[in-house]
Amino acid sequence: MNLVRSTTLAKQRSDTLRRLGILASGPQFFAVRPLHLSRRSVFQARFGQSLPLTASMPVSADSHAHSRVEPQRVDAPLTQSATFLVLTLTDSPGAAKTVRSVLANITDLNKNVSIRDPFAALNCTVGIGADAWDRIMAPVGLLKPPELHPFRVVRGAVHTAPSTPGDLIFHIRSERRDMNFEFERQLLDALGDSVSVADETIGFRYFDVRDLLGFVDGTANPATATQISKAVLVASDDGDSADLAATGAVGGSYVVVQKYVHDMKAWRSLSSEAQEAIIGRTKWDNVELADADDSKQKAHKTLANITDDDGTEHSILRDNMPFGSPASGQFGTYFIGYSRHLWVIERMLERMFIGDPPGLHDRLLDYSSALTGSVFFVPSATTLQNLDKD
Ligand code: HEM
Repeated sequence: MNLVRSTTLAKQRSDTLRRLGILASGPQFFAVRPLHLSRRSVFQARFGQSLPLTASMPVSADSHAHSRVEPQRVDAPLTQSATFLVLTLTDSPGAAKTVRSVLANITDLNKNVSIRDPFAALNCTVGIGADAWDRIMAPVGLLKPPELHPFRVVRGAVHTAPSTPGDLIFHIRSERRDMNFEFERQLLDALGDSVSVADETIGFRYFDVRDLLGFVDGTANPATATQISKAVLVASDDGDSADLAATGAVGGSYVVVQKYVHDMKAWRSLSSEAQEAIIGRTKWDNVELADADDSKQKAHKTLANITDDDGTEHSILRDNMPFGSPASGQFGTYFIGYSRHLWVIERMLERMFIGDPPGLHDRLLDYSSALTGSVFFVPSATTLQNLDKD
């Protein structure tokens, strides 16, 4: 292996570790630490802003959009605990105004709680659904982002991805379950009767970021700040610039969530080799397997790999978390995917549920049922902050 390649590989590995919160930023901390927090996330938790120029700078719309928009922290590291809170708007008078005010002040709410343990790296990203956009954002003059629409049901011959209600998503994450709990409590207090809860799922880290099927989940995520920005942030050249400006979409992301439950008994009846062929990676050491021939049954990782007609590969950023309870017999994966283009995730779902070629659906679905499905747009932090000015 030549020096350039080995340096690049070492850099990729350290970028990934850094995103997982395992490796600290900066050369003086260039070692794997048992601590589950990077110095960067501690700094952010404490001061609500990013470290000055380092290799792991936060994602920014600037890196590919030449604007001064500050994104929400969709790139926050994977943590020990996460709460996925999906809400619907009620008809109570002033509901939209209350929500606007809470969203405009979400950073202050975050500070209220995060100051109590800066090492916990509390972060919350907020997304708004298509119907709610008309009620919350349209009155302050923000048109709907070009691709935003409710989750479209994907019906395969055997499995279906359902579409379920959701006007708002709060993706709350930190190293501590109690911090997430406290943030959620204060958030729901502030929202009052303007919302009702459609779904609340508590996710947890399972060993070395494994899903409950036993596989390491998240490996193929973009890792560097540039890769993440490119994969998840809407850029100013993603459409007509005047149209985009009217939506405030630049620096935002589309996010899709689905709650899956697994049939563990059936999954465990498979050999490890059969499970590995379904996922497309080895179970023990997470090594990628070769793709199957085009006409053959494809692995999950191949069906979820999207290349457009020009040969460009489109990544998304997944922050999936296991959830469930052995006592109630529930074993699940909460899928959450952030993307610059909604069509990329929609194409993944079509390939998984309908199959490629059609009929050869993702065998992961024979052991995993989607219970929910919703789409949201995560506006930039700048757009959120300006919401209070009506
Ligand atoms: C039951 C739910 C799911 C489970 C347990 C699961 C698990 C996994 C695992 C273990 C991998 C391989 C390691 C990695 O790169 O992360 C993977 C890859 C991937 N999954 Fe999933 N996944 C689920 C649902 C989904 C859904 C619904 C999507 C998209 C709509 C998706 C998109 C991807 C992508 C983009 C990759 C990387 C593919 C590549 O290597 O290029 N997954 N998933």
